[in-house]
Amino acid sequence: MAAEVMYTIHFYVLFLLLTVRFSSSFIGNGENYRRNVSLELNPGLNSSLKPLPPGVDLLHVRALGKNNTLHYLLCSQGAPALLLVHTSSASSKVEVDWPAFLVQNTTGSLKVTPESSVLYSNALVFTRLWEYDDVNDTADPEHLPPSSFFQPYELQNFTWDDLNKTLDPTAHTALLCGRDASESFSNGSLCLKFSAFDAEGRDQGWPSLLHNANSSQLRVGLDGVLPRSNRSRFSLELQVVGGTQPMSRVDVLRSIDDEYTPSIFKVSQWVSSPVNSTSPVLGYAQWKPVAYRRPSPVFEDATPCRHSTPVPIAQLPPSGLVLAYFGGERQTSGLNMTFSIAGDPFYNTTNYLSWTVLVGLGSPPVDSFSPLVLVIMAVGLGTPLLIILLGGVCVCVRKNRLQPQVYQPIN
Ligand SMILES: *[C@@H]1O[C@H](CO)[C@@H](O)[C@H](O)[C@H]1NC(C)=O
Ligand SMILES: *[C@@H]1O[C@H](CO)[C@@H](O)[C@H](O)[C@H]1NC(C)=O
Ligand SMILES: *[C@@H]1O[C@H](CO)[C@@H](O)[C@H](O)[C@H]1NC(C)=O
Ligand SMILES: *[C@@H]1O[C@H](CO)[C@@H](O)[C@H](O)[C@H]1NC(C)=O
Ligand SMILES: *[C@@H]1O[C@H](CO)[C@@H](O)[C@H](O)[C@H]1NC(C)=O
Ligand SMILES: *[C@@H]1O[C@H](CO)[C@@H](O)[C@H](O)[C@H]1NC(C)=O
Ligand SMILES: *[C@@H]1O[C@H](CO)[C@@H](O)[C@H](O)[C@H]1NC(C)=O
Ligand SMILES: *[C@@H]1O[C@H](CO)[C@@H](O)[C@H](O)[C@H]1NC(C)=O
Ligand SMILES: *[C@@H]1O[C@H](CO)[C@@H](O)[C@H](O)[C@H]1NC(C)=O
Ligand SMILES: *[C@@H]1O[C@H](CO)[C@@H](O)[C@H](O)[C@H]1NC(C)=O
Ligand SMILES: *[C@@H]1O[C@H](CO)[C@@H](O)[C@H](O)[C@H]1NC(C)=O
Ligand SMILES: *[C@@H]1O[C@H](CO)[C@@H](O)[C@H](O)[C@H]1NC(C)=O
Repeated sequence: MAAEVMYTIHFYVLFLLLTVRFSSSFIGNGENYRRNVSLELNPGLNSSLKPLPPGVDLLHVRALGKNNTLHYLLCSQGAPALLLVHTSSASSKVEVDWPAFLVQNTTGSLKVTPESSVLYSNALVFTRLWEYDDVNDTADPEHLPPSSFFQPYELQNFTWDDLNKTLDPTAHTALLCGRDASESFSNGSLCLKFSAFDAEGRDQGWPSLLHNANSSQLRVGLDGVLPRSNRSRFSLELQVVGGTQPMSRVDVLRSIDDEYTPSIFKVSQWVSSPVNSTSPVLGYAQWKPVAYRRPSPVFEDATPCRHSTPVPIAQLPPSGLVLAYFGGERQTSGLNMTFSIAGDPFYNTTNYLSWTVLVGLGSPPVDSFSPLVLVIMAVGLGTPLLIILLGGVCVCVRKNRLQPQVYQPIN
């Protein structure tokens, strides 16, 4: 009987151990890929050209792997853009013909050399900020009459602050803030916080996207802008320009674990993958469909967001970097990210919105169950089993004890 109890406990412990084993293979994901990350502002800028025109900066981040390099280029000439170039060489370089680059009409004024080492390239461009008067509180700009829209803010016409002042070479971050000339932005700004990563990890602040050494992150913040109506909502237009494989479709994945991003059970990824979906994804932009209405959000400050279906766009986006690197005949597609849903507070309540996107190479990181959730699951599944088994043991013990008493008088 003691042996039976021991067996049961044994089984329970074994079950827990197995679960933890199983989970750690999930958690680590077997990925310890690291890169050496270094930042460089305006690579190769000839001192005779300084100073650059106001608001123009080019940040180059080199993320060096054992055998390959990821180059990130963040540029504020025209609409802000992040270009990712993956090369098969550990010594590939970014070459900028600055006079031509600044004229903005010469394809090839920015190159990653040797050009034969380039495996993959893709650019994400922030083109427009749309504002609409949501009089009927539908939060559905795709079904609103054009009269509901205010003139969009063209990000190519923003004046951008000096990147030099916000560069943090140790944290691998930079903050690019800009504003429109209109009165709405007199106390406001649109900022892009760029982060590059040398290893797998997760940001502290929500949405706490999982990143790895092949990804970088942009957090968009719309702070202190004077809305043009009391019921204003915003959407942000994004465009992508690809090398060989443009980002063509958005996949929405579901999860049953929202521990890292409370109340959000989905992740969306705009992927660059060959027509046949069995082929691996080459690159991606990944986000959780949530924006936050305060810089240090609590649960109530989360507001869902939605993306429109990506559509092909006939022209290249107005980014100096895209023109310089890709030039004329590239495929462009775009979508609108709409912040907030019907019934949620309007922008005027906090005058703040932030949204985060991860841009990277290869397959997007996959959120796995956290150790806490796995332990809860193990206990949740294991405890009823333990109770059933112990219950069974008790019944047996009772029977064994009772039997002699019942039968004794007969004997
Ligand atoms: C700057 O560029 C000019 C012309 O391209 C060249 O003559 C000059 O030596 C360069 N200066 C430096 C400091 O590299
Ligand atoms: C990164 O830098 C460290 C120290 O400088 C070096 O030991 C390591 O090999 C480098 N790793 C890669 C992938 O270049
Ligand atoms: C580097 O790449 C070459 C060829 O692409 C391969 O043969 C070699 O094993 C790679 N080295 C490492 C350390 O991955
Ligand atoms: C680019 O612009 C410059 C100055 O505006 C002009 O001299 C040059 O011919 C232009 N180049 C092309 C390829 O259009
Ligand atoms: C708002 O709702 C009213 C009544 O349903 C409708 O007549 C009007 O066109 C709507 N306005 C917009 C901008 O959708
Ligand atoms: C933005 O700039 C472009 C090119 O300089 C100009 O044609 C356009 O009118 C400007 N748009 C706004 C809204 O200021
Ligand atoms: C950044 O700013 C500092 C001080 O203002 C200046 O010394 C430095 O040269 C600047 N760096 C670049 C790359 O412009
Ligand atoms: C901007 O802020 C200043 C000082 O806080 C204030 O006087 C001014 O009215 C504000 N402008 C707008 C457009 O809100
Ligand atoms: C990152 O990219 C390198 C080179 O393509 C690949 O070997 C590695 O597995 C990738 N790591 C992750 C975490 O995706
Ligand atoms: C925001 O707009 C709503 C709807 O018109 C209004 O009721 C509310 O007072 C406004 N809030 C602020 C802080 O201005
Ligand atoms: C992709 O799929 C289509 C039809 O689904 C097929 O005709 C084509 O050959 C496939 N291409 C490759 C490279 O497998
Ligand atoms: C974004 O929304 C605006 C307003 O509805 C529309 O004019 C524009 O074409 C949309 N852009 C994309 C890429 O769907």
